[in-house]
Amino acid sequence: MISKLSSTSALLITAGLLTFSSASFAADGKELYTAKGCVACHGADAKTPMTAMYPKVAGQNKEYLTQQMKDIKSGARSNGQSMVMKGIMAAVSDEEIEALSEYLSGLE
Ligand code: HEC
Repeated sequence: MISKLSSTSALLITAGLLTFSSASFAADGKELYTAKGCVACHGADAKTPMTAMYPKVAGQNKEYLTQQMKDIKSGARSNGQSMVMKGIMAAVSDEEIEALSEYLSGLE
């Protein structure tokens, strides 16, 4: 009985650690912004894009950012220059989109 209890709590602790580490990874939008190459087109501060044809994305509404990234990824949005970004989004998961939106919407 005692050994059964302790293996159960060991499992719970392991599950807790796994949840914690994946959550803290997913939450790091700032790191993703550099790691995924967003910086190249949208600028290090997300408001000095490579050309005036590309948008400033800092300080935009979080829900809007999430929707635009999902739409560019799926191809639902294919206006303007959005094809330029579509290939990048293939390597960005929904969790990462959330984290990126969180980070970008919090910028001034
Ligand atoms: C190769 C250049 C390029 C890269 C890399 C890139 N983007 Fe973009 N992004 C664009 C362009 C160009 C547009 C505007 C498309 C259009 O004209 O409709 C855009 C649009 C957006 C939009 C929508 C803005 C709006 O106002 O609707 C968001 C949000 C965004 N990008 C975030 C990101 C993030 C986050 C990354 C990294 C994962 C990224 N982009 C990587 C070129 C890029």
